Amino acid sequence: MDQSLLERVSRDPHRPIYHFVPPANWMNDPNGPIQVDGVYHMFYQYNPFGANHANMHWGHARSRDLVHWEHLPIALAPTPDGPDKDGIYSGCCVMNQGTPTIIYTGVHPQVQCIATSDDGLLTWRKHPANPVIATPPEGIAVTGFRDPFAWREEDGWYMVVGSGIENVGGAALLYRSPDLMSWEYLGPLCTGKLAESGHMWECPNFFPLGEAHLLAVSPYGKVIYFLGDYADHAFEPSTSGLLDLGESWYAPNSLLDDRGRRLMWGWLKEMRPREVQPEHGWAGAHSLPRELYMHDDGALGIKPAQELETLRGAYTRYDALAIKPSGQGLLGDLRGDALELVATFDPGTAESLGLLVRQSRDGTEWTAISYAPRTGRLAVDGSHASLDPQATNKEVGGEFWLNPDDLLTLHIYLDRSVIEVFANERAAIAHRVYPTRADSQGVDLFATGGTARLISLHAWEMSSIW
Ligand code: FRU
Repeated sequence: MDQSLLERVSRDPHRPIYHFVPPANWMNDPNGPIQVDGVYHMFYQYNPFGANHANMHWGHARSRDLVHWEHLPIALAPTPDGPDKDGIYSGCCVMNQGTPTIIYTGVHPQVQCIATSDDGLLTWRKHPANPVIATPPEGIAVTGFRDPFAWREEDGWYMVVGSGIENVGGAALLYRSPDLMSWEYLGPLCTGKLAESGHMWECPNFFPLGEAHLLAVSPYGKVIYFLGDYADHAFEPSTSGLLDLGESWYAPNSLLDDRGRRLMWGWLKEMRPREVQPEHGWAGAHSLPRELYMHDDGALGIKPAQELETLRGAYTRYDALAIKPSGQGLLGDLRGDALELVATFDPGTAESLGLLVRQSRDGTEWTAISYAPRTGRLAVDGSHASLDPQATNKEVGGEFWLNPDDLLTLHIYLDRSVIEVFANERAAIAHRVYPTRADSQGVDLFATGGTARLISLHAWEMSSIW
């Protein structure tokens, strides 16, 4: 790859150091995550030719520890005159009787294709019979037909394809196959309502979680999950929610690893305007691996994978501080743009409380991570994150209610332009910020409308994964 591009990209102060990114250029969705012989493989939507969404390929990387990644050659490129000539869109990777098999979408039109590897997932051969599904199901007017996600059941392979039914809503279409080659359409696994969850569901993921099944869909907006029962190839959702309350984390994909964990990654969209992204030489990152599980009360659990602790460096700890609306500088000189913070609070009488991060010494740039106990809102306020007129400065957030007797724990990862927040392992928000000032690294605590109490704060400097 062009050396000057690599250098330019590595000098960008907004480029994360411990979130997965390709060497340069554009990336979006995580594709086909799979663990084989103990090694994690991650593929991703990748444009090798620029930092814009075009020429979609599957990039490839692998990791032994879920934290450090090794870049590998591109796994899939469009074949001129093939069904994927206009792009290799998202999909999944499964082991079919020992043969790694990728199922992906070729465009245009959107069709489903397969490719296999016989050298340990390094090089891939597209099946001569592609596309294995050449048209959407007959008799329904679909809004799209892409992003296959397959799994094995006792009697064969099953797969959902992301879709939507015109004037009805998003849909995950269910298929069955004995061999990943010939597919029979069974009907929609789940259909949404237009007004609630949009007209198109991208990147469906469907898997057991505890006693239930979880369906995740990306409806162009925030990623929705449905939890419910799956029996006789019918899914009955009983609850739903958002997998991330921000506006950056999108099109997640997941795997079940050899420790029985359901690990999920999302694409972290840039929040600088698309027109300016190419000039930076890179765009897009993957979120940290998030483990999904069920809490005892039946709520969805979301937490960062434990292995991330290996990145922890210099450590500082604070205990027992009263946080008043007038208070400032409570953490002394705690600073950084690549930090992990675990803060536990008693919200007390505060209307809103949390942390200020990426704060400049003159106070002109700052981002607030907050919880408002009375209105049940968890938010990242980046409305003053950057003095750059091109940066999209905004507040993002959503509904989160602390259980009455619980303390609030905010588990925060700062990684240059990336912020990821986990609240009590029950809600997550990712956001992107682009401060302009080199000193926009301050961390502080705040409370408004009353007094809150910091029980403890653990802070680590984080190392690079490269
Ligand atoms: C989601 C998505 C998918 C598609 C891919 C194309 O971000 O639009 O539906 O397969 O990205 O890059």
